[in-house]
Order: sequence, then structure tokens, then C-alpha cells
Amino acid sequence: MYSKPKEVLKLEGIKRLDLIHSGKANDVFATSNAFIYEIESTDRVSAGNGAKKDVIPGKGVSNNTISTAIFKYLADHGIPTHFVGDGTTPASKFVLAADMIPLEVIGRLKTAGSFCKRYECPEGIEFDEPFVEFTYKSDNAGDPPIDRKTIAALLDQMQLENEREIDLMEFYTAHIAELLQEFWLNFGVEIIDFKVEFGRLENGEIILCDEISPDTCRLVDLETGEKLDKDRFRENMKDPEKGYNELLARLCNS
Ligand code: TMP
Repeated sequence: MYSKPKEVLKLEGIKRLDLIHSGKANDVFATSNAFIYEIESTDRVSAGNGAKKDVIPGKGVSNNTISTAIFKYLADHGIPTHFVGDGTTPASKFVLAADMIPLEVIGRLKTAGSFCKRYECPEGIEFDEPFVEFTYKSDNAGDPPIDRKTIAALLDQMQLENEREIDLMEFYTAHIAELLQEFWLNFGVEIIDFKVEFGRLENGEIILCDEISPDTCRLVDLETGEKLDKDRFRENMKDPEKGYNELLARLCNS
């Protein structure tokens, strides 16, 4: 079981310092503790690699609250994560400083999205076991799919030590898929697919980083199949905020 170094758990009195990275939806700040960053989930929303942008008021708080609940659940079930505590605002959290691995790892329970486009297959086909695939995280290259052989050929660029680390991320993601399925069922929600990212601590350990939220998952109501995630924004639905609000309400009222 993963255990965090004692000194990084002292969060009292920790101060937010400079903005060190502003992503499409999240801002990352240095803190007065060199081992810890503070991540603020913002209300910014984008799709199509930044082609479509807007602001959804309240999304940052919803996503941070949902992602924090999920990261705690995953940590309780043996997945090492970067989460160390709540941040200085309702939309922020403190995390372990990690070097990000430039891969997005997609877990799928049912076919949807780019998988269906790529292979011209219908949506909703259930996989016998969680299906895991990788994309190379690069805005320049357009986040292309990348297979294991290519990752193995580019280990240095992918910030990986060896091929076993590809297996490890695949193993974690398949396990996360099962845990997320269980987590969301408690709230009457079915998870279709999701994206996770991993980072490396100074001691070499690979841990789950970034966020798991309605921005990074496909989530539908278990009874009605209504979409409750960022697809509402991607597909120009009239109330893109509905998914974030609905999921937050289900979590808070349980
Ligand atoms: P996809 O069907 O577009 O490949 O997306 C699969 C899942 O991964 C879906 O839940 C959305 C999530 N995702 C992200 O969070 N960020 C991304 O950049 C991509 C491509 C997918």
C-alpha cells in the first residue's frame, strides 16, 4: 500500500505562490512547500483541442469536488494518487509535485466517441473487460493514438524507464475502470469511458495525477441514459452545465 512521506502531509499554513502552468481547464500553482502544488479547477471549458471554448459558471467547484471524492475512493482502494488535501478555495486541492508522463490513458467500458469514429462501429457495445488505450499528449501533434510498440520505441520521450511501466499504467487504468464503475453505480450513473494521466515522483514512483471529472469521463444516467458530462458542451446542448450540477447534487445528497 502506498504511503506518502510524512513531511509533505503538513498542509497547515501552506501558502499558494506563483502560477506555474495554465492548462485548458486547470491552473497549477507552486506553494510554500516544494513537494506540493495547488491545482485550481477553473470554469473554463474547451473541446476539439481548444477549437471551441466557453465558461460554465460553477464547473470548477463541481469538478474539484467530484474529482476529489473519486481520488479519495481510488486511494482507499489501493491506487497511488497525487492528492494530499483540500486547497485554499472550494475549487482547489493540494497535490504532490510530479513530473507528468506525456500520455493520456483511456479506459473504456463501452464503445463511444473516437473509438466508434475510428472503427465505424456502433456506440454502446460492452467490452468483456476494461479496454485500455493510449494517446500521445501533444497539442502540436493533436494527441494521436499511440500503441505499445511505439511507446516502447520512444521510452525516453515518454518519460518512462522501461516497458513494465507501460504495463503498470495499463493495469492501474483497468483497475480504475472497475472502481469507477462501482463508484458511479452508487449514484445511479453509468460510466462509459474516461481518461487518466500519470506522473512520476522524485523517488521514481508512478502515481495517478490530473483529475477525473465530468470533463474527462463519459457519464450517463443509469435509468434514462441522459448524458451528464462534457459531451453536453461538445454537442452544443442548450444546458451544458446540467451534468456538472446534477452529479455534484447526487454526490452531496448521498
Ligand atoms: P474519446 O472517445 O474522444 O477518445 O474519449 C474517450 C474518453 O476520454 C472520454 O471520456 C473523454 C476523455 N478524454 C479526455 O478527457 N481528454 C481528451 O483529450 C480526450 C481525447 C478524451
